[in-house]
Amino acid sequence: MKVIQISDPHLMTPGGLLYGSNPLFRSQACLADIGGNHADADLVVISGDLTNDGERSAYAALRESLSGFGPPCRLMLGNHDDRALFLEMFPQATTERGFVQSVVDSSEGRLILLDTLDSGHVEGKLCAARLDWLDERLQEGRDRPVFLFMHHPPFRIHIPELDRVMLADADALHEVLLRHGNVRHIFAGHVHRLIAGSWRGIPVSTLRSTNHQTALDLSQSWSLGHESPAYAVILIDADGVIVHFHDFPVPPAP
Ligand SMILES: [Fe+2]
Repeated sequence: MKVIQISDPHLMTPGGLLYGSNPLFRSQACLADIGGNHADADLVVISGDLTNDGERSAYAALRESLSGFGPPCRLMLGNHDDRALFLEMFPQATTERGFVQSVVDSSEGRLILLDTLDSGHVEGKLCAARLDWLDERLQEGRDRPVFLFMHHPPFRIHIPELDRVMLADADALHEVLLRHGNVRHIFAGHVHRLIAGSWRGIPVSTLRSTNHQTALDLSQSWSLGHESPAYAVILIDADGVIVHFHDFPVPPAP
């Protein structure tokens, strides 16, 4: 199974710049590269912060960008998004119990896409309703490997500014995962960095934004990174999971 992860496009009203880059232009370059090289993807997941300010015009631009895009695509929410407006703009989005979360089953296992947005807060939350839903989905998939996608990582990355705004109820999530023991990888966004490691024994990775990055600065302050935007090509088979991080080309801005 080939899954593409894109994260944190932070779209603005078309023409708007964010940290000196045009997020719409960059996300379109990303989609074009995927369309040219991975049109065979089984699924494309955009793991949250679809927009920077939750603006209608930014969601409209995303909808327009995806209108001619080939592979099946699932959109997730991040702390910069507006759930109600997103659902108005993407009424066909899969929801469960009012949250933008869903399950994708394949012969290689079960993907579970979680909604960690806690409206009005930068940090993420799953809350009892979402944890119960996850518990049930993990129970259903108990005999198969499960792969989680979530905007907020439930683990620290040792950059204090971002660790303060990770998933707030990480211990509660861990309790649910422990009950089932079938989660094989957690793919997160939010931190705008390429990171691989493990959290309490579960392999994890995070991804750069398609627009702007976090610098490798472990001090108390957040600094802007200047790494290239990237997406991830995730290959899942009976042997396990391989993640290729790809710095897609961004043509000079018009
Ligand atoms: Fe973000």
